[in-house]
Amino acid sequence: MAAKKLQETLSKGVLEEVHRYGGMKQTGVSLRYMMEFGSRPTPRNLLLSAQFLHNELSIRIARRALELQSLPYGLSSKPAVLKVRDWYLDSFRDLRSFPEIKDKNDELEFTQMIKMIKVRHNNVVPTMALGVQQLKKDLKPKVDYQDLDEIHQFLDRFYMSRIGIRMLIGQHVALHDPNPPPDCVGYIHTKMSPVEVARHASEDARCICFREYGSAPDVNIYGDPNFTFPYVPTHLHLMVFELVKNSLRAVQEQFMNSDKVAPPIRIIVADGIEDVTIKVSDEGGGIPRSGLPKIFTYLYSTAKNPLDEQVDLGIANTTTMAGYGYGLPISRLYARYFGGDLQIISMEGYGTDAYLHLSRLGDSQEPLP
Ligand SMILES: Nc1ncnc2c1ncn2[C@@H]1O[C@H](COP(=O)(O)OP(=O)(O)OP(=O)(O)O)[C@@H](O)[C@H]1O
Ligand SMILES: [Mg+2]
Repeated sequence: MAAKKLQETLSKGVLEEVHRYGGMKQTGVSLRYMMEFGSRPTPRNLLLSAQFLHNELSIRIARRALELQSLPYGLSSKPAVLKVRDWYLDSFRDLRSFPEIKDKNDELEFTQMIKMIKVRHNNVVPTMALGVQQLKKDLKPKVDYQDLDEIHQFLDRFYMSRIGIRMLIGQHVALHDPNPPPDCVGYIHTKMSPVEVARHASEDARCICFREYGSAPDVNIYGDPNFTFPYVPTHLHLMVFELVKNSLRAVQEQFMNSDKVAPPIRIIVADGIEDVTIKVSDEGGGIPRSGLPKIFTYLYSTAKNPLDEQVDLGIANTTTMAGYGYGLPISRLYARYFGGDLQIISMEGYGTDAYLHLSRLGDSQEPLP
């Protein structure tokens, strides 16, 4: 199917607007700023926030729509990618057709509208993954997919931008909660216990492991459960969940058919001055050194790929143990979004250590691709 060019999809006026907004500078926000601003959700602040988002979301979404139109290797014309692009264009149109936000009523209406935008984009990740899969099929004998650096870099920029957009919308919407949970400022928990979050995430990962294998190795967590710092619990949950899932799978595959007891996965939480670091260690046999450069690319997976066209578009599959190759690259983006990072150190023949660094200071600006 030929790609419908933007010119065919959009009226001239909207097309010009997409280019105009797509050329404007994005404005980053830090965790600390979101926390300070959000701690006073007065009507005036909510109005300011909505006015900022009206412009900022238009810029960020326009940039992504334009980029989706000019991807290498014909990725832009894959049906799934066209679908994603259309979501971005629809959202851009919604934003630009919304009149200037002048008072509380406008602000509430705007908040409803961006809430809908967030829902519209719920399935962007699996849908893009499907598009890349479609490309991979076409290129198969000719190109080693892992060499498609440009595509991996694009996906990094694209998903990073998505994390930012969803954080900004989610934060603004959550600030309208008349009874926020204690110590919560929107998505941010000002006294988040990393040990507690790691415990929940590990339990969730173990449930999936049970479902898949009928048993699950233990996960032991070391660290002070009373230690807290401001962070976004949903982000940390996602990262630890992915790391523990990888470790459980590795240990399970190693010990499934042996009569030895599976060694537990160990999570260590360290509170430094600059960083909080969470190490997830396993004895699951490690990753061969030749595989290491690929683990942060999209779709590098040693698992059977569960993503096929029936599961696709819209119907998000229930979580599986592994198979998309997205766990590590996406977790690293979440870590980097607030100034942290993720590193993987492996000893082939023994096990893997994942170091998740979270910046404690919260003052690094959002990375804006
Ligand atoms: N702790 C680990 N021990 C051994 N191999 C690992 C470990 N973590 C990751 N890997 C290897 O890296 C690959 C990529 O991991 P990643 O989490 O990105 O994707 P996945 O687990 O295959 O799929 P999913 O998207 O469902 O997470 C895995 O398929 C596996 O081969
Ligand atoms: Mg994984």
